[in-house]
Amino acid sequence: MDDLWSEARARIEAATTTADLRDIEVAWLGKKGRITLALRGLGALDPGERRERGQVLNRIKRDIEDALARRRDEVARAEIEARVREERVDPTLPGLPVACGHLHPLTQVLEDVEDLFDRMGYHVMDFYEVEDEFHNFEALNIPADHPARDLQDTFYLEDGHLLRTHTSPGQIRAMRTLPKPFRAVFPGRVYRFEATDASHEHTFHQVEGLMIDRSVSVANLLSAMMTMLAGVFGRRVEVRLRPGYFPFVEPGFELDVRCRVCGGRGCPMCKQSGWVEFLGCGLVHPNVLRAGGLDPSEWEGWAFGVGLSRLVLLRYGIDDIRWLMSGDVRFTRGF
Ligand code: PHE
Repeated sequence: MDDLWSEARARIEAATTTADLRDIEVAWLGKKGRITLALRGLGALDPGERRERGQVLNRIKRDIEDALARRRDEVARAEIEARVREERVDPTLPGLPVACGHLHPLTQVLEDVEDLFDRMGYHVMDFYEVEDEFHNFEALNIPADHPARDLQDTFYLEDGHLLRTHTSPGQIRAMRTLPKPFRAVFPGRVYRFEATDASHEHTFHQVEGLMIDRSVSVANLLSAMMTMLAGVFGRRVEVRLRPGYFPFVEPGFELDVRCRVCGGRGCPMCKQSGWVEFLGCGLVHPNVLRAGGLDPSEWEGWAFGVGLSRLVLLRYGIDDIRWLMSGDVRFTRGF
Protein backbone atom coordinates (compact mmCIF):
# COMPACT_ATOMS: atom_id res chain seq x y z
CA MET A 1 0.00 0.00 0.00
CA ASP A 2 2.89 2.33 0.62
CA ASP A 3 4.04 1.61 -2.92
CA LEU A 4 0.59 2.56 -4.24
CA TRP A 5 0.97 6.04 -2.76
CA SER A 6 4.66 6.66 -3.46
CA GLU A 7 4.36 5.48 -7.05
CA ALA A 8 1.29 7.63 -7.64
CA ARG A 9 2.97 10.64 -6.10
CA ALA A 10 6.12 10.20 -8.20
CA ARG A 11 4.11 9.98 -11.41
CA ILE A 12 1.93 12.95 -10.51
CA GLU A 13 4.98 15.05 -9.79
CA ALA A 14 6.58 14.02 -13.10
CA ALA A 15 3.46 14.79 -15.15
CA THR A 16 3.84 17.85 -17.40
CA THR A 17 0.49 17.96 -19.24
CA THR A 18 -3.15 17.78 -18.23
CA ALA A 19 -3.39 14.74 -20.52
CA ASP A 20 -0.73 12.93 -18.42
CA LEU A 21 -2.70 13.71 -15.29
CA ARG A 22 -5.89 12.35 -16.79
CA ASP A 23 -4.05 9.06 -17.59
CA ILE A 24 -2.79 8.82 -14.01
CA GLU A 25 -6.26 9.46 -12.63
CA VAL A 26 -7.67 6.65 -14.76
CA ALA A 27 -4.84 4.25 -13.81
CA TRP A 28 -5.37 4.76 -10.05
CA LEU A 29 -8.89 5.97 -9.48
CA GLY A 30 -10.72 4.84 -12.65
CA LYS A 31 -13.21 1.97 -12.78
CA LYS A 32 -10.37 -0.50 -13.14
CA GLY A 33 -7.85 1.71 -11.37
CA ARG A 34 -5.44 0.25 -8.83
CA ILE A 35 -7.09 1.89 -5.82
CA THR A 36 -10.57 0.98 -7.03
CA LEU A 37 -9.58 -2.67 -7.43
CA ALA A 38 -7.84 -2.73 -4.02
CA LEU A 39 -10.97 -1.30 -2.37
CA ARG A 40 -13.08 -3.88 -4.09
CA GLY A 41 -10.69 -6.63 -2.83
CA LEU A 42 -11.43 -5.66 0.81
CA GLY A 43 -14.64 -7.68 0.78
CA ALA A 44 -12.64 -10.90 0.97
CA LEU A 45 -10.88 -9.90 4.25
CA ASP A 46 -12.08 -10.42 7.78
CA PRO A 47 -13.83 -7.40 9.37
CA GLY A 48 -10.89 -6.14 11.51
CA GLU A 49 -8.39 -6.14 8.74
CA ARG A 50 -10.99 -4.77 6.32
CA ARG A 51 -11.57 -1.63 8.40
CA GLU A 52 -7.87 -0.98 8.92
CA ARG A 53 -6.91 -1.42 5.30
CA GLY A 54 -10.04 0.39 4.18
CA GLN A 55 -9.07 3.47 6.21
CA VAL A 56 -5.55 3.45 4.79
CA LEU A 57 -6.76 2.96 1.22
CA ASN A 58 -9.31 5.75 1.52
CA ARG A 59 -6.68 8.08 2.89
CA ILE A 60 -4.36 7.25 -0.02
CA LYS A 61 -7.27 7.84 -2.41
CA ARG A 62 -7.89 11.30 -0.95
CA ASP A 63 -4.17 12.09 -1.01
CA ILE A 64 -3.99 11.11 -4.68
CA GLU A 65 -7.04 13.24 -5.45
CA ASP A 66 -5.50 16.22 -3.67
CA ALA A 67 -2.12 15.73 -5.35
CA LEU A 68 -3.82 15.47 -8.77
CA ALA A 69 -5.79 18.67 -8.21
CA ARG A 70 -2.73 20.58 -7.08
CA ARG A 71 -0.60 19.35 -9.97
CA ARG A 72 -3.40 20.05 -12.42
CA ASP A 73 -3.39 23.71 -11.36
CA GLU A 74 0.38 23.95 -11.79
CA VAL A 75 0.38 22.21 -15.17
CA ALA A 76 -2.53 24.29 -16.46
CA ARG A 77 -0.80 27.50 -15.45
CA ALA A 78 2.44 26.36 -17.10
CA GLU A 79 0.54 25.45 -20.26
CA ILE A 80 -1.09 28.87 -20.41
CA GLU A 81 2.24 30.58 -19.79
CA ALA A 82 3.83 28.55 -22.60
CA ARG A 83 1.04 29.52 -24.98
CA VAL A 84 1.32 33.15 -24.05
CA ARG A 85 5.04 32.97 -24.75
CA GLU A 86 4.64 31.16 -28.08
CA GLU A 87 1.55 32.83 -29.46
CA ARG A 88 2.72 36.34 -28.87
CA VAL A 89 1.08 38.88 -31.20
CA ASP A 90 3.43 41.24 -33.00
CA PRO A 91 1.45 44.46 -33.39
CA THR A 92 4.13 45.89 -35.69
CA LEU A 93 3.39 43.36 -38.46
CA PRO A 94 1.60 44.92 -41.45
CA GLY A 95 -2.12 44.10 -41.64
CA LEU A 96 -3.70 41.83 -44.22
CA PRO A 97 -4.74 43.69 -47.36
CA VAL A 98 -8.48 44.34 -47.57
CA ALA A 99 -9.93 43.83 -51.04
CA CYS A 100 -11.85 46.98 -51.80
CA GLY A 101 -13.77 48.10 -54.88
CA HIS A 102 -13.40 51.54 -56.40
CA LEU A 103 -14.90 53.79 -59.03
CA HIS A 104 -14.10 53.32 -62.70
CA PRO A 105 -11.56 55.91 -63.94
CA LEU A 106 -14.27 57.39 -66.17
CA THR A 107 -16.50 57.91 -63.16
CA GLN A 108 -13.64 59.40 -61.15
CA VAL A 109 -12.88 62.00 -63.83
CA LEU A 110 -16.58 62.64 -64.41
CA GLU A 111 -17.11 63.35 -60.72
CA ASP A 112 -14.13 65.73 -60.72
CA VAL A 113 -15.51 67.62 -63.72
CA GLU A 114 -19.03 67.82 -62.26
CA ASP A 115 -17.64 69.00 -58.96
CA LEU A 116 -15.57 71.70 -60.61
CA PHE A 117 -18.47 73.15 -62.57
CA ASP A 118 -20.87 72.76 -59.69
CA ARG A 119 -18.60 74.96 -57.59
CA MET A 120 -18.55 77.56 -60.39
CA GLY A 121 -22.32 77.81 -60.30
CA TYR A 122 -23.19 75.55 -63.25
CA HIS A 123 -26.28 73.35 -63.39
CA VAL A 124 -25.21 69.71 -63.80
CA MET A 125 -27.82 68.03 -65.99
CA ASP A 126 -28.55 64.67 -67.53
CA PHE A 127 -30.32 64.23 -70.86
CA TYR A 128 -31.49 61.38 -73.07
CA GLU A 129 -29.21 58.90 -74.80
CA VAL A 130 -32.02 58.00 -77.19
CA GLU A 131 -32.75 61.17 -79.13
CA ASP A 132 -34.67 62.27 -82.19
CA GLU A 133 -33.35 63.79 -85.42
CA PHE A 134 -34.65 67.16 -84.43
CA HIS A 135 -32.61 67.53 -81.25
CA ASN A 136 -29.52 65.68 -82.43
CA PHE A 137 -29.32 67.37 -85.87
CA GLU A 138 -31.94 69.78 -87.16
CA ALA A 139 -32.15 72.08 -84.15
CA LEU A 140 -28.36 72.16 -84.16
CA ASN A 141 -28.32 73.58 -87.65
CA ILE A 142 -27.27 70.29 -89.22
CA PRO A 143 -29.36 69.97 -92.38
CA ALA A 144 -30.61 66.65 -93.69
CA ASP A 145 -27.88 66.39 -96.33
CA HIS A 146 -25.03 67.08 -93.90
CA PRO A 147 -22.36 64.35 -93.87
CA ALA A 148 -22.64 63.99 -90.08
CA ARG A 149 -26.07 62.47 -90.65
CA ASP A 150 -24.61 59.79 -92.85
CA LEU A 151 -25.77 56.33 -91.89
CA GLN A 152 -22.10 55.53 -91.37
CA ASP A 153 -21.95 57.74 -88.30
CA THR A 154 -25.28 57.26 -86.59
CA PHE A 155 -26.99 54.31 -84.97
CA TYR A 156 -30.65 54.55 -85.94
CA LEU A 157 -33.36 52.71 -84.06
CA GLU A 158 -36.18 50.99 -85.90
CA ASP A 159 -38.75 53.50 -84.66
CA GLY A 160 -36.87 56.44 -86.22
CA HIS A 161 -35.12 57.53 -83.02
CA LEU A 162 -31.34 57.41 -82.81
CA LEU A 163 -28.56 57.08 -80.28
CA ARG A 164 -27.25 60.59 -79.74
CA THR A 165 -23.96 61.12 -81.55
CA HIS A 166 -22.94 63.94 -79.20
CA THR A 167 -24.18 65.67 -76.05
CA SER A 168 -25.10 68.82 -78.00
CA PRO A 169 -28.86 68.02 -78.23
CA GLY A 170 -28.83 68.89 -74.53
CA GLN A 171 -28.20 72.52 -75.59
CA ILE A 172 -31.69 72.72 -77.07
CA ARG A 173 -33.28 70.98 -74.11
CA ALA A 174 -31.42 73.19 -71.60
CA MET A 175 -32.33 76.41 -73.43
CA ARG A 176 -35.96 75.39 -73.49
CA THR A 177 -36.19 74.49 -69.81
CA LEU A 178 -33.79 76.61 -67.75
CA PRO A 179 -34.52 80.19 -66.73
CA LYS A 180 -32.18 82.61 -68.55
CA PRO A 181 -29.40 83.53 -68.11
CA PHE A 182 -27.78 80.21 -67.08
CA ARG A 183 -24.71 78.06 -67.33
CA ALA A 184 -24.90 74.31 -67.40
CA VAL A 185 -22.88 71.19 -68.09
CA PHE A 186 -24.34 67.88 -69.21
CA PRO A 187 -22.12 64.83 -69.33
CA GLY A 188 -23.13 61.56 -70.89
CA ARG A 189 -22.61 58.62 -73.14
CA VAL A 190 -22.63 59.11 -76.89
CA TYR A 191 -22.55 56.68 -79.81
CA ARG A 192 -20.99 56.63 -83.25
CA PHE A 193 -21.38 53.97 -85.86
CA GLU A 194 -17.75 53.74 -86.86
CA ALA A 195 -14.74 51.46 -86.96
CA THR A 196 -12.84 51.33 -83.68
CA ASP A 197 -9.13 51.86 -83.15
CA ALA A 198 -6.81 53.18 -80.42
CA SER A 199 -8.54 56.57 -80.44
CA HIS A 200 -12.06 55.71 -81.65
CA GLU A 201 -14.75 53.78 -79.87
CA HIS A 202 -18.40 53.33 -80.84
CA THR A 203 -19.46 54.23 -77.30
CA PHE A 204 -17.73 57.04 -75.49
CA HIS A 205 -18.33 59.94 -73.15
CA GLN A 206 -18.61 63.68 -73.60
CA VAL A 207 -19.30 66.66 -71.41
CA GLU A 208 -21.17 69.55 -72.95
CA GLY A 209 -20.95 73.03 -71.50
CA LEU A 210 -23.36 75.84 -72.30
CA MET A 211 -23.54 79.42 -71.12
CA ILE A 212 -26.43 81.68 -72.13
CA ASP A 213 -26.41 85.35 -71.26
CA ARG A 214 -27.12 88.77 -72.82
CA SER A 215 -23.49 89.06 -73.81
CA VAL A 216 -20.81 86.36 -73.74
CA SER A 217 -17.25 86.25 -75.04
CA VAL A 218 -14.74 83.82 -76.46
CA ALA A 219 -12.36 84.90 -73.68
CA ASN A 220 -14.91 83.76 -71.15
CA LEU A 221 -15.35 80.44 -72.99
CA LEU A 222 -11.59 79.89 -73.03
CA SER A 223 -11.24 80.63 -69.35
CA ALA A 224 -13.99 78.12 -68.47
CA MET A 225 -12.25 75.43 -70.53
CA MET A 226 -8.81 76.18 -69.09
CA THR A 227 -10.24 76.02 -65.58
CA MET A 228 -11.73 72.63 -66.33
CA LEU A 229 -8.51 71.27 -67.82
CA ALA A 230 -6.34 72.59 -64.99
CA GLY A 231 -8.79 71.04 -62.50
CA VAL A 232 -8.76 67.64 -64.15
CA PHE A 233 -5.00 67.49 -64.70
CA GLY A 234 -4.04 69.25 -61.51
CA ARG A 235 -1.87 71.77 -63.37
CA ARG A 236 -1.88 74.05 -66.39
CA VAL A 237 -1.86 72.11 -69.66
CA GLU A 238 -0.45 73.10 -73.01
CA VAL A 239 -3.26 73.75 -75.50
CA ARG A 240 -3.68 75.11 -78.98
CA LEU A 241 -6.80 76.66 -80.48
CA ARG A 242 -7.62 76.27 -84.14
CA PRO A 243 -10.58 77.38 -86.20
CA GLY A 244 -13.00 74.49 -86.43
CA TYR A 245 -16.24 73.92 -88.21
CA PHE A 246 -19.36 72.80 -86.40
CA PRO A 247 -22.72 73.85 -87.89
CA PHE A 248 -24.07 74.84 -84.47
CA VAL A 249 -21.41 77.42 -83.57
CA GLU A 250 -20.10 80.54 -85.25
CA PRO A 251 -17.24 81.16 -84.93
CA GLY A 252 -16.18 77.62 -84.10
CA PHE A 253 -12.91 76.32 -82.66
CA GLU A 254 -11.12 73.15 -81.93
CA LEU A 255 -8.91 72.88 -78.91
CA ASP A 256 -6.01 70.46 -78.90
CA VAL A 257 -4.04 69.35 -75.88
CA ARG A 258 -0.39 68.34 -75.91
CA CYS A 259 -0.39 64.52 -75.89
CA ARG A 260 0.53 63.32 -72.43
CA VAL A 261 0.85 59.69 -73.44
CA CYS A 262 4.00 60.41 -75.47
CA GLY A 263 4.77 63.92 -74.21
CA GLY A 264 4.37 65.27 -77.75
CA ARG A 265 6.84 62.97 -79.51
CA GLY A 266 4.12 61.13 -81.39
CA CYS A 267 2.26 57.89 -80.61
CA PRO A 268 -0.83 55.96 -81.79
CA MET A 269 -2.99 57.96 -79.38
CA CYS A 270 -2.19 61.31 -81.05
CA LYS A 271 -1.76 59.79 -84.50
CA GLN A 272 1.94 60.76 -84.37
CA SER A 273 1.09 64.49 -84.28
CA GLY A 274 1.93 65.23 -80.63
CA TRP A 275 -1.51 66.85 -80.19
CA VAL A 276 -4.82 65.31 -79.22
CA GLU A 277 -8.05 66.79 -80.52
CA PHE A 278 -9.81 67.52 -77.35
CA LEU A 279 -12.90 69.54 -77.72
CA GLY A 280 -15.02 71.56 -80.06
CA CYS A 281 -16.40 74.90 -78.99
CA GLY A 282 -17.64 78.26 -80.17
CA LEU A 283 -20.36 80.85 -79.93
CA VAL A 284 -23.85 79.41 -80.28
CA HIS A 285 -25.21 79.88 -83.81
CA PRO A 286 -28.27 82.17 -84.04
CA ASN A 287 -30.28 79.36 -85.65
CA VAL A 288 -29.57 77.19 -82.61
CA LEU A 289 -30.63 79.95 -80.21
CA ARG A 290 -33.85 80.24 -82.19
CA ALA A 291 -34.41 76.46 -82.06
CA GLY A 292 -33.94 76.74 -78.29
CA GLY A 293 -36.70 79.34 -78.14
CA LEU A 294 -34.38 82.34 -77.66
CA ASP A 295 -34.26 85.61 -79.57
CA PRO A 296 -30.71 85.99 -80.99
CA SER A 297 -30.99 89.78 -80.80
CA GLU A 298 -31.44 89.44 -77.06
CA TRP A 299 -29.37 86.38 -76.06
CA GLU A 300 -25.91 85.06 -76.81
CA GLY A 301 -24.19 81.87 -75.82
CA TRP A 302 -21.09 79.79 -75.95
CA ALA A 303 -20.84 76.03 -75.95
CA PHE A 304 -18.18 73.38 -75.78
CA GLY A 305 -18.22 69.63 -76.12
CA VAL A 306 -15.27 67.79 -74.63
CA GLY A 307 -14.41 64.13 -74.99
CA LEU A 308 -14.54 62.90 -71.42
CA SER A 309 -12.99 59.64 -72.57
CA ARG A 310 -10.01 61.57 -73.90
CA LEU A 311 -9.71 63.44 -70.62
CA VAL A 312 -9.39 60.09 -68.89
CA LEU A 313 -6.86 58.74 -71.40
CA LEU A 314 -4.69 61.82 -71.11
CA ARG A 315 -4.94 62.14 -67.36
CA TYR A 316 -3.76 58.58 -66.81
CA GLY A 317 -1.60 58.16 -69.93
CA ILE A 318 -3.70 55.31 -71.35
CA ASP A 319 -2.85 54.62 -74.98
CA ASP A 320 -6.03 52.90 -76.17
CA ILE A 321 -9.60 54.16 -75.71
CA ARG A 322 -10.99 50.64 -76.06
CA TRP A 323 -9.81 49.78 -72.54
CA LEU A 324 -12.37 52.16 -71.05
CA MET A 325 -15.51 50.25 -71.95
CA SER A 326 -13.85 46.83 -72.03
CA GLY A 327 -15.07 45.79 -68.58
CA ASP A 328 -11.68 44.14 -68.17
CA VAL A 329 -10.70 44.10 -64.49
CA ARG A 330 -7.01 43.78 -65.35
CA PHE A 331 -7.43 47.35 -66.60
CA THR A 332 -9.75 48.84 -63.97
CA ARG A 333 -7.70 47.38 -61.08
CA GLY A 334 -4.90 49.78 -62.00
CA PHE A 335 -6.78 52.85 -60.75
N1 PHE B 1 -20.73 68.21 -80.56
C1 PHE B 1 -19.40 68.39 -81.07
C2 PHE B 1 -18.76 67.01 -81.28
O1 PHE B 1 -19.29 66.04 -80.85
C3 PHE B 1 -18.54 69.16 -80.12
C4 PHE B 1 -19.00 70.58 -79.94
C5 PHE B 1 -19.85 70.95 -78.92
C6 PHE B 1 -18.52 71.57 -80.77
C7 PHE B 1 -20.22 72.23 -78.72
C8 PHE B 1 -18.90 72.88 -80.59
C9 PHE B 1 -19.75 73.21 -79.56
O2 PHE B 1 -17.71 66.88 -81.85
